[in-house]
Amino acid sequence: MQPEWVHGSMMWLRVLLTLLLCSSLEGQENSFTINSIHMEILPSHMVNNGENLTLTCIVDISTTSHAMPQHWVLFYKDDVLFHNVSSMKSTESHFIPQARVYNAGLYKCTVILNNKEKTTMEYEVLVRGVSSPIVTLNKKEAIEGGNVMVTCSVPEEKAPVHFTVEKFELSNVKAVRQKKEKTSQNQNFVMLEFTVEEQDRVIVFYCQAAIISGKNVETSTRARSELVTVRESFSNPKFHVSPKGMITEGDQLHIQCTIQVTHMTPAFPEIIIQKDKLIVAHQSHSVEATYSVMAMVEHNGNYTCKVETSRISKVSSIVVNITELFSKPKLESSATLLDQGESLDLWCSVPGAPPANFTIQKEDMILSQAQNFTKKVSAWDSGTYTCVAGIGKVVKKSNAVQITVCEMLSTPRIFYDTRSEVIKGHTVKIHCQTTNGTPPISYRLLKANKDLESRDMDSNEPAVFKDNPKEDTEYQCIVDNCHSHAEMITELLPLKVIAPVEEIKLSILLNEMVESGKEIVLLCSVKKASYPITYKFYREKEVRPFHQVSLNDTQAIWLNPQASKEHEGQYYCTASNRANPPKNAPQSNMLTVRVFLAPWKKALIALVVIGVIIAILVLGARCYFLKKAKAKQMPVETSRPAIPLLTSSNEKVLSDASTEANRPYGYSEDIGNHAMKPMNENKEPLTLDVEYTEVEVTSLEPHEGLGMKGTETVYSEIRKANRDFMGNRYSRTEGSLDGT
Ligand SMILES: *[C@@H]1O[C@H](CO)[C@@H](O)[C@H](O)[C@H]1NC(C)=O
Ligand SMILES: *[C@@H]1O[C@H](CO)[C@@H](O)[C@H](O)[C@H]1NC(C)=O
Ligand SMILES: *[C@@H]1O[C@H](CO)[C@@H](O)[C@H](O)[C@H]1NC(C)=O
Ligand SMILES: *[C@@H]1O[C@H](CO)[C@@H](O)[C@H](O)[C@H]1NC(C)=O
Ligand SMILES: *[C@@H]1O[C@H](CO)[C@@H](O)[C@H](O)[C@H]1NC(C)=O
Ligand SMILES: *[C@@H]1O[C@H](CO)[C@@H](O)[C@H](O)[C@H]1NC(C)=O
Ligand SMILES: *[C@@H]1O[C@H](CO)[C@@H](O)[C@H](O)[C@H]1NC(C)=O
Repeated sequence: MQPEWVHGSMMWLRVLLTLLLCSSLEGQENSFTINSIHMEILPSHMVNNGENLTLTCIVDISTTSHAMPQHWVLFYKDDVLFHNVSSMKSTESHFIPQARVYNAGLYKCTVILNNKEKTTMEYEVLVRGVSSPIVTLNKKEAIEGGNVMVTCSVPEEKAPVHFTVEKFELSNVKAVRQKKEKTSQNQNFVMLEFTVEEQDRVIVFYCQAAIISGKNVETSTRARSELVTVRESFSNPKFHVSPKGMITEGDQLHIQCTIQVTHMTPAFPEIIIQKDKLIVAHQSHSVEATYSVMAMVEHNGNYTCKVETSRISKVSSIVVNITELFSKPKLESSATLLDQGESLDLWCSVPGAPPANFTIQKEDMILSQAQNFTKKVSAWDSGTYTCVAGIGKVVKKSNAVQITVCEMLSTPRIFYDTRSEVIKGHTVKIHCQTTNGTPPISYRLLKANKDLESRDMDSNEPAVFKDNPKEDTEYQCIVDNCHSHAEMITELLPLKVIAPVEEIKLSILLNEMVESGKEIVLLCSVKKASYPITYKFYREKEVRPFHQVSLNDTQAIWLNPQASKEHEGQYYCTASNRANPPKNAPQSNMLTVRVFLAPWKKALIALVVIGVIIAILVLGARCYFLKKAKAKQMPVETSRPAIPLLTSSNEKVLSDASTEANRPYGYSEDIGNHAMKPMNENKEPLTLDVEYTEVEVTSLEPHEGLGMKGTETVYSEIRKANRDFMGNRYSRTEGSLDGT
C-alpha cells in the first residue's frame, strides 16, 4: 500500500510543477500597463454627519494576457495609508458607515502592479455637522444656592471638541441665565458645574458641540437636558410696618422684616434692614429683624431688607412716610455781634404757634425754660445758642445762632527790644500789644506816618513786626477789633539808628610835599556815621596809633607844627563808632608825606661842602710838601707811625715832639671816635706855643637824608695854644659831632 500512496503524491507534485512552469512562462511573456486610476466618492464628496460613505478606486490596466493581473490597491487619507487590498479586479471600494467629522479629509488611492504604480489626485471629503450631543444631569431637583453638574458628550466624535452649555429658566427659554464654554482637548465630553440662583424655579440646560474640520467649524444641534426643579431655601423678605395707616411723629414705629425658611436650608440667612446706606437693624439666627424707634420726620425714607446667604441675596424695599407733628423751632436774636455790656434778646418760635414747651440753651447749658431770653452780655457770653421745643414726647431742636460778644481793647502799647542799639542794616522787631480786648485783633504798623504792615492776632499776644530802618524814624500802631469803639492808636515810638562809618578818607592840608620846619596837617574824614566817632591816626607798619580822638564830627585833624625829615612816611587813619567795632573799623587810604629842605639851607650846605673841599685840598698840598722835607732830612725817623693826614699848612716841624703836638684834633673826613684819639694819646704837656688848625664840624640835621650829613663850618686857625684852650676846643668839637 505504501508504494501506491507514494506514487499518487509524486504524480500531484508533477502536475503542480507543470502549472508553475506554465505560469512563469506566461509572466515572462505578458506585458502590463496602468492606463489610469481615479476615485469615486458616493454619495458625494460632501456628506452629512451620519451618512454612509463609499470610496471606490477604479483602475484601468492594459495587458497582453487574457486575465486581469494581480495588483495592490492602497487607500490614503491625508497622506496616511489606512487600507490596502490585493486585487485582480479593476475596482476596489472602502466603505465608511456613518461618516463623522474626523472622516473628513483628503483621500487618494494608489495602484501597484509589479514595480509600476500610479496614484490618483487628492479628493476632498467634507462631513457636514456634528452628531447630536447627549446632555445628562446629576440631579433632577436642586435648592437655591446649590449646584447642578451637567455632562455633555458626543460619543461618536473625536476630541478636540468645543462645548457650549447654557442654563435657561423654563418659563423663558430666550434669556440665557448662565453660559459656560469649554474645549475638551482629549475627551469627547465635558462636565460643568452650574449654580442655582435665587430666581431659578425650573431650569433646563442646552448643549452644543463644535469641531474644527479643516477650515470649517462644524456644529451640532442644541441638545436639551432634562428639567431641574428648584426649591427656595428662604422666601423673599416681607415688610410689616406698624402702626398701620398714617404714622405721626411721636408714635412708636416698628419696621419688621420676615422670611420663610425651608427645612432643607443648611443655615439661617442674615437679615439686614437698611435706610439708605445705613444699617438700622440686623439679625443672623432668626426669620425676622425689627427696627423700633419713636417716629420722627427724619425717619422718613426708603427702607431695604436684605436677606443673604453666601450665594443668595434677596431684597425688598418699602417707603415709610411719617407725618410731622410740628415744624422745627426757629431761634432769632436781636444781634449776633454785640459789644460787651449791650443787651442780647433771643426768642424762639414754632411756625403755627402750637402750645409747646421751650428751652433756650447755650451749648449744653440751659439758660431759660421760656420762649424769650434777655441778657446784658459780657465777653464769655460768646457762643452757640439753640432752642428746643417740645410737645409731649416730641422734642425738636432749632437752628444754631452764633453770638459774638466783643470786649473793648485796652490802651495798646508799642515797644521794641532795646537791649541792643539798632544798627543800620540790622532788623528790629517792633511789638504792638493790647492785653485786653476780644480777638481777632488787627494791628497796623505805621512808620513815619505811613502804613507799613498789618497783622491779625487771634490772641492777646503781641503782634511782632520786623523792619530794617535805614535812618532815624518813628513807629506807631493802630489797633482795632470787633468792638464798635473807634480804632486805637499807640504812642509814637522813636527809633535811633546807628549808622556805620562810610567812606573814610585821609588827606593832607596844603601839599603832600612839606618844607621842613613848616607844619603838617592831616585830616581824617568820613562821609557818614553816627556820633561819637573815634578816629585813630597811624603811621604805616606801626601797630599803635600815634594820635586818637573821639569826636561828634565827621572829621578829625592832627597837626604837627614843625615838620622834619623824620615825619616823612605813609599815613592812614581809621574811624569807628558803635556800629563798627574797633577791631574791624574801616581804614582810610594810604597817604605819603614828604619833607624837603628850605632852599637857603641847601645853599648853606653847598657852601660848607665847597669849604671842606678847599680845606682838604690845602691840607693835601701841605702834607705833600711835609713828606718831601722829611724824606730829605729824617731817614732815622722811621720808628714813628704815620702822621695824621691833616696838619696846618703853615706849621714848621723841627722836632719829633713838635710833630706830635701839631697833629690836628678834628677833620672832616672822619668824624667818628678816631677824632678823640689824638687827645688821649697826646699826654705831653703843650707848653710851647704851637700853631694848630681848628676844624669845626657840625652835622646840620642829624636825621635828614643820608646824603645831607656834612660839615657846616670849617675854619682853620693857627695860634699858640695852652692846655686849657685845647680842652675847650675839644669839647666844642665833641658837641658838634653829637649833633645836638
Ligand atoms: C448604511 O449602511 C448600513 C450597513 O452598514 C445599512 O444598514 C443602512 O441601511 C445604510 N443606510 C443608508 C441610508 O443607506
Ligand atoms: C498591505 O497590508 C498588509 C497587512 O496589513 C501588509 O503586510 C502589506 O505589506 C501591505 N502592502 C503594501 C503594499 O503596503
Ligand atoms: C428704595 O431703594 C431700593 C434700593 O436702593 C430701590 O431699588 C427702590 O427703587 C427704592 N424705592 C423707592 C420708592 O425709591
Ligand atoms: C407722605 O404723606 C403725606 C400726607 O400724608 C403726603 O403729602 C406726602 O407726599 C407723602 N410723602 C411721600 C414721600 O410719600
Ligand atoms: C417774646 O419776644 C417776642 C419778640 O420780642 C414777642 O413778640 C413775644 O411776645 C415775646 N413772648 C413772650 C412770651 O414774652
Ligand atoms: C410742658 O411740660 C410740662 C411739664 O413737663 C407738661 O406737663 C406739659 O404737658 C408740656 N406741654 C406740652 C405742650 O408738651
Ligand atoms: C557828643 O555828643 C553827645 C550828645 O550830645 C555828648 O554826650 C558827648 O559828650 C559828645 N561827645 C563829644 C566827644 O563831644
